[in-house]
Amino acid sequence: MKEILVTGGAGYIGSHVVKMLAERGYHPIVFDSLENGFAEFVRGHELVQGNIGDYALLADIFRKRNIACVMNFASYIAVGESVQLPLKYYANNVANTFELFRAMLDSGVKRFIFSSTAAVYGYPEEVPIRENAKLSPINPYGRTKLMIEQALQDIDAASGMKFIALRYFNAAGADPGGNIGESHTPETHLIPLILRSILEDEYTITVFGTDYRTHDGTCIRDYIHVNDLADAHILALETLVSKGESAVYNLGNGRGFTVREVIDAVKRVTGKNPKVKEGPRRPGDPDVLVASSEEAMAELGWKPQMAELETIVETAWRWERQRKRKGW
Ligand code: UFG
Repeated sequence: MKEILVTGGAGYIGSHVVKMLAERGYHPIVFDSLENGFAEFVRGHELVQGNIGDYALLADIFRKRNIACVMNFASYIAVGESVQLPLKYYANNVANTFELFRAMLDSGVKRFIFSSTAAVYGYPEEVPIRENAKLSPINPYGRTKLMIEQALQDIDAASGMKFIALRYFNAAGADPGGNIGESHTPETHLIPLILRSILEDEYTITVFGTDYRTHDGTCIRDYIHVNDLADAHILALETLVSKGESAVYNLGNGRGFTVREVIDAVKRVTGKNPKVKEGPRRPGDPDVLVASSEEAMAELGWKPQMAELETIVETAWRWERQRKRKGW
């Protein structure tokens, strides 16, 4: 069985990838500090508790095991927090990630799949956004991701470490089984917060800005199901093994929905009324972010299976109720 080291594998996207890797005959080894991940999300899988800045621990794993590829989900992801605490982001998302690369190179592990983000584009000049669009992040979070993409190109040129960077748009939804899903502290993402405004008496969701240049005045985003993202990671792994070429791909559905349209989808799926109020814009939000994922489809053979917004919301709703019951 092929062993894959999944750093940050006990988090939201990582845990979905771990589950799918195992289902497809791989042996995932989860490496997670559990600062933001949950051991419960990876029950039944091998888990090593550690930080990606821990060169010695990683080098030890690479020496003892036969790791075919590393997938890295171990990064901080909150855009707003990255503006307030840039050093926290540069320290983990950049400096610690370099320790991971050092341990990989010193041990001869030369395949890497990287979680990048639409945030590397900043305010896009054209939508849908293609991979060759201008890279101009507008916050420290996006800059940390772009720095790693650039470093990966240099490391590939110098050492032949091959990588695929996947630029996610808005990851959403949960495994239909209902046992793993999104759980961030604090939660900042739209769909779980709308659902919370249904489940929690005291919570009302605020629509951030109603004067954007869109058909209903609210921001447009491209929501992509977390299991479709997971599938893309496994296809990326297999493509990296078969072709041995580094590449960068966008991952989105290619369709955008406004904040109000997402709220309407939640109403249809749940049959309930979210508590909604309108507020000012959140700094740094572009009007529209929609992906062109044609390259991922053509080169990885990727095709999203849960592209409907209702399906995404339905799986998130199932998870959110389960999460509340379990107190996660
Ligand atoms: N929104 C609200 N109210 C809320 C939360 C969000 O109106 O309480 C709006 C936002 O303004 C935005 C949309 O809902 O227009 C989606 O917001 P999210 O916070 O769910 O997601 P973002 O688009 O801001 O961020 C996502 C990822 C980031 C990544 C970014 C790339 O979570 O990691 O896409 O652009 F950087």
